[in-house]
Amino acid sequence: MVRLNHEQGAPEATCYLNGDYLPLSQARISPLDRGFLYADGVYEVMPVFARRPFRLDAHLDRLQHSLAGIRLPNPHCREAWKEIVRRLVDEAPWADQSLYLQVTRGADDKRSMPFPPEVQPTVFAFVAPLVQPSAQQRERGIGAVTVNDIRWGRCDLKTLVLLPNVLAHQSAVDAGCEEAVLIRDGYLSEGASSNIFVVKDGVILAPPKDHRMLPGTTYDVVLELAVRHEARHEIRAIAEAELRSADELWRTSSSKGVLAITTLDGRPVGHGEQAGKPGPVMRQMQTWYAAFFDEYMSEAQP
Ligand code: PDD
Repeated sequence: MVRLNHEQGAPEATCYLNGDYLPLSQARISPLDRGFLYADGVYEVMPVFARRPFRLDAHLDRLQHSLAGIRLPNPHCREAWKEIVRRLVDEAPWADQSLYLQVTRGADDKRSMPFPPEVQPTVFAFVAPLVQPSAQQRERGIGAVTVNDIRWGRCDLKTLVLLPNVLAHQSAVDAGCEEAVLIRDGYLSEGASSNIFVVKDGVILAPPKDHRMLPGTTYDVVLELAVRHEARHEIRAIAEAELRSADELWRTSSSKGVLAITTLDGRPVGHGEQAGKPGPVMRQMQTWYAAFFDEYMSEAQP
């Protein structure tokens, strides 16, 4: 249902909070919520195109992985999640949306670190208008800076522990860039909100899925497409020196797809004629990805 947020005059979507559907501006949680106090929770984000969540099952699988990783039972079965999502997406004022799901370990009546024995999790979901990359970003690529990866040791879980990502993103913005590329102990881990691929001598290089990076749903698609089209690729640790001498750098995420990173720390990525421009392997992957997207959108809703 479309509601007007009267202070801003902008349409407001309905959100879901612990079983209720209500306008986002009216949603309230306790200040003792463990998500607020300890970042004790997990989340998911996915795009919705023409009111169709993009690869919802892959995101719900990852939500389950994240919940299991922090020892929090999933509060909903898959059908119940899908029902919540369906209602929010159908009632939103926009056809293309960004869908956010979050589960925390709930609000106790005191501040105490161990798991509380009988606390209900807090379940929150909302949709916002989808922000897509501009035509210029697609055509010319984006700028990135490198940042020391100071995150904790379970980056494979999509937790609310995002302060290092926030600081990394701000470093990118301060440098007039769109993404921060995280480096840990001399090796590429991922972007502050994306996975990173490197191309060298025509070979697509991807870091392995381990505790150092989020297992991206788009990362999986890109590698599936590389296999399907027999593009040369290797999954292995990528040293900082390889990142800095790459022919191409890509950033992948479900909301923005595959984007070229064309400057790194103010220097053009690539060599010769191609320096500072999206490369040929990238263009090929974008074509495959666009075909995959069209195929997905034309299939029946699961
Ligand atoms: N995050 N790595 C990190 C650290 C991320 O935050 C994201 C996406 C990805 C890419 O995952 P996927 O391909 O499934 O979108 C990788 C979303 C956009 C976010 O937190 O807002």
